[in-house]
Amino acid sequence: MIIYDTKNDLSAHIRSECISLLQDRLADAIDVMLQSKQAHWNVKGINFIALHKLFDRVHDDLEDGVDLIAERIVQLGGVAEGTSDAVFERSSMPGYPLQLSTAVEHVEALSTSLAAYAQVVRQAIDQCIKSNDANSADIFTEISRSVDKNLWMVEAHSQAPLISSEEQAA
Ligand SMILES: [Fe+2]
Repeated sequence: MIIYDTKNDLSAHIRSECISLLQDRLADAIDVMLQSKQAHWNVKGINFIALHKLFDRVHDDLEDGVDLIAERIVQLGGVAEGTSDAVFERSSMPGYPLQLSTAVEHVEALSTSLAAYAQVVRQAIDQCIKSNDANSADIFTEISRSVDKNLWMVEAHSQAPLISSEEQAA
């Protein structure tokens, strides 16, 4: 891994630890961002225009996160690795089937990926705090807030109430 010298006062050890975490999350972020465009382009059905627009907004929010993560890597002296090869090698996100078409299918697939991304981003907040990099933790917190919001926006199309404990006991 190439790490540039910098006047940033975080130690080389902290920087290299955080760069490696940020690279992993960058691959996840780009992967889910591309998946949201896949949904935006290909969704079909009676809800087309609402979902077409929503998926594009989700894409734009994910893209903001991609930029925050990539630029944090460079601030720490790293090289942001955002090529398709790097994403293919590193992404931990679920795949996005190419044959999906209905609103239900895209809502299910994209909400699954957003939830997976939300989970690793939430873990990254704690990992950055442990590594004493408050700014990377703050970046991941900002992304986490946005991903949780978009998970709600997408998932609300298919959410059913949980069975309450009284009903289960009956
Ligand atoms: Fe478009």
